[in-house]
Amino acid sequence: MASHVHSSGSSHTVRQPTEPSIASRRQWQQILHETFGIEHLRPGQEEVIESVLNGRNTLAIMPTGAGKSLCYQLPALKIPGVTVVVSPLIALMKEQSMRLEETGLGAAEVNSALSAREERSALQRIGNADYEFVFTTPERLSDPEFLETVRQKNHVSLFVIDEAHCISRWGHDFRPAYLHLDAIIEALGHPTVLALTATATDAVVEDIKQQLGLLDMHVINTGIYRPNLQYRVIAATDEAEKLARMYDLVREIEGSGIVYAATVKAVEEVHKSLQQAGESVIFYHGQLSAKVRTQNQDMFMSGARRIMVATNAFGMGIDKSDIRFVIHFQMPASLEAYYQESGRAGRDRDPAQCILLYFARDKQVQQFFLARRYPGAADLDAVYSVLQKLHVDSGVVSLPQLHEELEDISEGRLQVSLKLLKDGGLVAQDEQLGYRLLRRNAKPRELAKLSDTYRDKRERDQAALERMVFYAQTGFCRWKVMLEYFGEHVDWQHCGNCDNCRQPPEQSLSAEHPRRHSFIFNNIPKEPSLDIGSTVSVPRFGEGHVVSVAGDKVTINFPDGSTKTFLRAYVTPKSNS
Ligand SMILES: Nc1ncnc2c1ncn2[C@@H]1O[C@H](COP(=O)(O)OP(=O)(O)OP(=O)(O)O)[C@@H](O)[C@H]1O
Ligand SMILES: [Mg+2]
Ligand SMILES: [Zn+2]
Repeated sequence: MASHVHSSGSSHTVRQPTEPSIASRRQWQQILHETFGIEHLRPGQEEVIESVLNGRNTLAIMPTGAGKSLCYQLPALKIPGVTVVVSPLIALMKEQSMRLEETGLGAAEVNSALSAREERSALQRIGNADYEFVFTTPERLSDPEFLETVRQKNHVSLFVIDEAHCISRWGHDFRPAYLHLDAIIEALGHPTVLALTATATDAVVEDIKQQLGLLDMHVINTGIYRPNLQYRVIAATDEAEKLARMYDLVREIEGSGIVYAATVKAVEEVHKSLQQAGESVIFYHGQLSAKVRTQNQDMFMSGARRIMVATNAFGMGIDKSDIRFVIHFQMPASLEAYYQESGRAGRDRDPAQCILLYFARDKQVQQFFLARRYPGAADLDAVYSVLQKLHVDSGVVSLPQLHEELEDISEGRLQVSLKLLKDGGLVAQDEQLGYRLLRRNAKPRELAKLSDTYRDKRERDQAALERMVFYAQTGFCRWKVMLEYFGEHVDWQHCGNCDNCRQPPEQSLSAEHPRRHSFIFNNIPKEPSLDIGSTVSVPRFGEGHVVSVAGDKVTINFPDGSTKTFLRAYVTPKSNS
């Protein structure tokens, strides 16, 4: 049975916290107790807080629910000046600023969900330096006027980037507006930077440092393992079966929970069917009006509704302590996303269940999103032409101006294009975040080369999706698969808590079979998927027909009339069956 994340010898080292001095510890203890009602810091928190108080730029990687917010809240109270917190999701920002207000700390929230009046009032109070904390999105900070308001009247001493993996092009939830944080940090006069995330592979850590231009960041990594989360996968062969299994689950598991679906449409459908089944349920996605989003979030957080059905717009950072289950109605695009979303469960540290309803065809939904995410050479071309055109008139061009001229390109793709042009030395960005052309008449070949970066990214995303599928189909410990993915080494083989550890899949093959011992991902099953009746082959037993698939167990009927069950990893589909 596993209890500790062990420190590893690889590049991805899980660090042990250091001891702070007794005097400073006593001071913290008092603030902790009086302001936050918390008695002791958790592992990792002390080290991060100490690092920030020492003015070091810090990147903290700690599990979901570990208490990363406190790592900026506490130092913010001890450092004079304002703390700016950059958050990717409005749901998250709302919750965090509300919490701080409850503890009597001034927190402003500036994002697209505010009414014009609310925004005016918030801006005015930021101008008066009334707040200790300013929560905002990277998109909003990219607005020169807003940045100026924050900059002129306030001394920003701490700059927090929550969910910092969004910076990284290799991260699962890359947000183009994060690409300009380096310019924003510079415009704010280089405050101490604290970046926080639960999900960063080594590549993402390096990229975060690069993108922020802070190569000497102090990285503190306490690993991602959470022993109270019980992972499980339930395979279904169609939508109706998925729905039926979901009803069973929400009835069977007591307490509140989240059901995640991949699209707005699916959220609405699942919500409706649960409602019709008499469940206490509410929903959340990015296409609801700001007002409805707020209302729905409140209803779930307060316990007025037991079940939240949501897209990943209600994902990262959300902190309701007593969520007993997180069910995925469709698989997410990567294990990072899955770890983040399922990490909403069990934050009170009591047991909670994380269940994926796996229907092989759901992979296509994610594949569809993948195809549309990044700019190609044509987008880059278009942005560059418009810059050349506008530059003649005005010299400096703003993002909104560009957006107006380039209606067909989404804001995200526009931002990535601009970043690529910046990296390629064709464009510069000034203190007001306006764009200036440095060089005219660049060759199309040069532009095409710049856009190649994202061909890589697309390939990586595809590989991440394959890993997600592997997770769904594996017979190994689910936790081990996740830890391995994040490059984390632990000295145990079985968490003892996931479905595969509790009920090991039947193994018809001998233990000596080499594939059993190699914990690698090269065995990710390739298409086509295992349909009932399709022809497959198994080492030693040869060809047969699939009778049923349950989780990662596949039952096969052989020509001699025998029926045997195998682990999915040993079964090779035959095409054209
Ligand atoms: N030292 C502590 N002792 C007790 N509770 C704590 C402590 N630190 C934080 N908490 C509580 O733990 C909960 C989770 O904290 P928080 O939301 O900061 O997690 P997080 O690390 O940001 O997770 P995520 O990655 O999901 O955003 C909060 O309700 C917080 O009040
Ligand atoms: Mg958080
Ligand atoms: Zn396990």
